Amino acid sequence: MKLVVCKNYDEVSAKAAEYFINLVKAKPNAVLGLATGSSPIGMYKLMIADHEQNGTSYKDVKTYNLDEYVGLDGSNNQSYHYFMNENLFKGLDIPLENTHVPSGIGNHDTLAAEYDAVLDELGGADLQILGIGSNGHIAFNEPGTSFASTTHIVDLTEETIQDNARFFDSIDDVPRESVTMGIASIMKAKKIVLIATSAHKAEAIKGMIEGPVTEDLPASILQQHPDVVVIVDTEAASLL
Ligand code: GLP
Repeated sequence: MKLVVCKNYDEVSAKAAEYFINLVKAKPNAVLGLATGSSPIGMYKLMIADHEQNGTSYKDVKTYNLDEYVGLDGSNNQSYHYFMNENLFKGLDIPLENTHVPSGIGNHDTLAAEYDAVLDELGGADLQILGIGSNGHIAFNEPGTSFASTTHIVDLTEETIQDNARFFDSIDDVPRESVTMGIASIMKAKKIVLIATSAHKAEAIKGMIEGPVTEDLPASILQQHPDVVVIVDTEAASLL
């Protein structure tokens, strides 16, 4: 794992955006693995700014996202599908049919398999952006998830529900389930950039980098990936 420690969120966002912009310039038909949460918002803004100012084109890029809340459809402003449209896709020239977000609506038994079929067709991402939960989760793979997992439906932990309540009017509005790419699927990306800021993430970052590789801290599996760049601010790096 390569570790990059930055001063603050803006610097983390700039470094992460650089990886994505450089890839798309070098490989206009790249497959990008994308994430939601507050961490990638700054990076997405910079990708849009670069597209507007320098004309970097996404018309041949394909994307897939990590996860979605079960029960929310893409028009719900709390859904991850809506988040991606608002924070990235509508600012780029990417055709929406090239973008893929798991559906949170439909039959529990088939949602996961349908998304795995999409992932199989796209192949592993050339570059995947990841955030990390304060309990070390990646996507919505909570502690205890098998490293061999593919797309599946999960019950969110109380810690994740509380962390994500800030995006909702009330904690009771936070969905209790999500559909998420599994850990084995995430590991298929050729390169992974993980970003994290604030002291709230410091324990998880320490465990991910210095701790044992254990399903109790899902992000620790990244120690076994051949090409991971971890970009954090000084607070998230404070326990290293
Ligand atoms: C959610 C998402 C994760 C994300 C995490 C951290 O749980 N499913 O993909 O990494 O939140 O979010 P934030 O970047 O807002 O701290």
